Amino acid sequence: MTHLLHVGEVDSTQNYLKAQFVGLAHGTVVQADCQTAGRGRFDRTWISNEGGLYFSVLLKPTKTDFLHNLTQLMALSVCRGLEMLGVHPNLKWPNDVQVDGRKICGILSETIFTANKLQAVIMGVGINVEQEGLTHVGQPATSLKYLHINTDKIALLHTIMDFFWRDYEALMAHGFETLRDDYLKRFAAIGKEVTVKNVDKQICGIAQDISPRGTLLLQTPQGQEEIYIGDLMV
Ligand code: BTN
Repeated sequence: MTHLLHVGEVDSTQNYLKAQFVGLAHGTVVQADCQTAGRGRFDRTWISNEGGLYFSVLLKPTKTDFLHNLTQLMALSVCRGLEMLGVHPNLKWPNDVQVDGRKICGILSETIFTANKLQAVIMGVGINVEQEGLTHVGQPATSLKYLHINTDKIALLHTIMDFFWRDYEALMAHGFETLRDDYLKRFAAIGKEVTVKNVDKQICGIAQDISPRGTLLLQTPQGQEEIYIGDLMV
């Protein structure tokens, strides 16, 4: 299923697919050795020196239901891929992957609509593999190298994508419920006091649950809040 294109240096694998998506098939994956303008969520820079695994996946879903859950499926697939290497990752809602409280992977999802019609979803994944000197990048970070794990980046990419395709159709047909149990097993913040930040506000509370829609349910002094987007600070 995974049709893989390799590029050496690129500004961003997200931009590459955005520019080319019309002529490329659903399921195309582009992987780069390094990126000169790698970007993350909320327009942050994603440092993309050689040694990391950087790839973007082109999806052309036939319906728009459950699009927001695709990043959660990718995060779960990354966890499963890392688990195959003996790592014990956990999920930081909605889609960061951490090991021992340090970020090892980030995921960025972007959509392309024309005239209200969905044309494509481009999902970018950055995994810290061989990098050193990454102890803090906006938040504590780690890499497979720090964890003393040597792996072939392309083999890891294929393992992750195999897990992704295994669950993709079920997610698109039935939604986050199909992932919820496996997602919750790796979600470490349940019962903990957390702060959720998004662009213009910050909200504190106890992380109670992940809803059947994949949203975060937070118990705050004002009552239960359902959070759709943000960054979780544990
Ligand atoms: C985040 O945690 O903010 C998401 C980071 C996503 C980074 C990946 S690397 C491959 C793809 N190309 C980009 O420019 N960004 C994503």
